[in-house]
Parts: sequence; C-alpha cells; structure tokens
Amino acid sequence: MHTKVHLPSKTIIYAPMEGITNHLYRNIILKNYPSWDYVSTDFLRLPTGSLVKASFVIDHIGGTCWNNKLYLNKTIFQILATERTYNQEASKLFEELNIPWIDLNFGCPSKHVNRHHGGAYLLDHPEKIKTIAKEIRQFYHGFLSAKIRIGYHSTHQFTSILNILEGEGIDLITIHPRTKDQMYAGKSDWQYIKLASDCVKVPVIGNGDIETIPDINKMFADTNCHGVMIGRGAIKKPWLINEYKNNLILNQQNEIKIFFNYLINELKQNNLDSKKFISSIKQLAHYLLYNYHEIKNQILHCQNISEILTLIDQVAR
Ligand SMILES: Cc1cc2nc3c(=O)[nH]c(=O)nc-3n(C[C@H](O)[C@H](O)[C@H](O)COP(=O)(O)O)c2cc1C
Repeated sequence: MHTKVHLPSKTIIYAPMEGITNHLYRNIILKNYPSWDYVSTDFLRLPTGSLVKASFVIDHIGGTCWNNKLYLNKTIFQILATERTYNQEASKLFEELNIPWIDLNFGCPSKHVNRHHGGAYLLDHPEKIKTIAKEIRQFYHGFLSAKIRIGYHSTHQFTSILNILEGEGIDLITIHPRTKDQMYAGKSDWQYIKLASDCVKVPVIGNGDIETIPDINKMFADTNCHGVMIGRGAIKKPWLINEYKNNLILNQQNEIKIFFNYLINELKQNNLDSKKFISSIKQLAHYLLYNYHEIKNQILHCQNISEILTLIDQVAR
C-alpha cells in the first residue's frame, strides 16, 4: 500500500535541478530545512532498450533517503521516459519498490535529451505524452505527476496536453511557463499557470522566477495555483522556506555560513572526490555565492574536494 501523499494548501516544493538536487544535496535540505513540503530529485533517464534496475533507482534516490521513511515520503522521484523506454516494466518496478511519488519530465530543453525524443520534444507530440503517461500509470498506483513547459516552439497544444495528462490519471501538474525555445530567458508567463488552474481539476503547481516571499504570495494570488515550486531562487536561498513559513527575514551572511557547515558535514560523511560531485559543488557555488565573487571564483578553480573544503571552511567560520 502506498502512503497517501498529503498536499497542504500552499504547498511549497524544491524544484528538480540536474547537477544540484543529487542525493547529497537533498540530504542537506531534508535534514536542515524540513519546512520544504517536498524536494524533487533531478531526473533519472530510463534506459533505452533495457529494463531499469532497482539498484539504479535506489542509487538515484540515495541510500540515506531510501532508508529514512520520512525523507522518502517527502521526495519526488523524477524520471525521463520516452516512447522507446520500457515504461510498463518501469511502472511495475516503481509499484514493487513502493515509491511514494513519481514525476514525469516533459520539459527538459537539453539538445541531447530532445534528440532522443525525451523532455520538451514530447510537447510537440501530445500523442506520445499520452502513451507514456498511460504506460507509467498502468501498474503504478502511487502519486504520479507531470512537469511541463508550455510548448516546444509555440503554445498552441498547451490545453490539449493538460487534458491528456488529466485523462490519463495524472494526479498533479507542474507548469514552468516558458516554451522550450525560450530555455530560461526572459520572464516566465504566469498567465499560463492561471490558465492551467482553470482548465484542469487536479492540483496545479506554479513554477518560474520565484526569488522572494512577495513573489510566492503574488504567484498564489495571480494564478490560483495549489502550490509553488522554486528552483534557482531556492539554490540561492534554501532558507527562503523558513522566512516564508515563519514570516521573518534572515541574515544572508549568517545563513550562508550555516549552510556551508551543513555542506561540510555532509561532504565529510561521504567519499565524494569524484568529478561529478566536484562539478556539482561548483554549480552550487555559482548560484549560492552570487554576492561573493572572489571566493566563488576560487571554488570554480578547485581541483578536488579538500581544496573546496578549505575554501568553504573560510566562509563557514
Ligand atoms: C541547473 C538547472 C537544472 C535543472 N534540471 C531540471 C531537471 O532535472 N528536471 C526538471 O524538470 N527541471 C529542471 N530544471 C528546471 C527547474 O526545475 C525549473 O523548472 C526552472 O529553473 C524554472 O524555475 P526557477 O525560475 O524557480 O528556477 C533545471 C533548472 C536549472 C537551472
């Protein structure tokens, strides 16, 4: 039996971000910023031409999270499926593993992903979205959501896609209101979040350009969405959730120190001197240290974790 997913009104979700929301980073958020209602993994690409293995899924979610019911129940496991991946088998596996919440990525703008007919490519092919959603829904009885952009080149199929997703039993839809062509440029158009809230009965989560508490309040007021998802603004300020829920403003310098102490603890508990983790910490520093140019540039030039630790130790003191 799946644990029922509870969606408080004004749910606040930490967005999936490749290179950032890996298991190490999510541990820091889940342990130290528990006011986030849910935290999403970055996407796991289902393999083409072979079955997805349980160990692959558990590694992506991360051992600490997998073994902690509280963390697992707050984790959204995002997958990237195409028409060529073994979706029904994956659906059976997710059911067997009793994963509480699966999210389908229909918005990734990466050239590589789109060339392989995944992510935002599918927004131009609603019939493929229908097939994938149906196949994943077939055996999986947990909470199933989809995260979409508003189109590939244009938005003319936006409402059809919403109706298809709802028709296939998707439980919640997150809207990042940019087309694939827009990538991350310009302002996201929140009118599409409002349009989605009016169009479907399932809860809609609004996403795009939230950096401050007034932004959160404005998105709720303007779009009638059930919840909001925060990406880049949350990397810059993971403590934004504490400010929002407790109605206070925290000192940025102190909060960065506190965050870096959490990061140091996490790094010391894991053996992470791999290229992947070093580049992930550099990506994190790029956003988090946007006001600290000198130390940020030094971190960007580090070759290994011990050099990074020495530098962030300076910030954390
Ligand atoms: C570095 C980075 C990685 C991202 N990776 C993912 C991903 O794995 N899956 C996904 O659905 N969206 C991904 N996104 C998109 C974000 O989840 C979010 O939709 C987008 O950044 C807009 O929200 P924001 O303005 O709050 O950042 C990524 C965005 C960034 C900046």
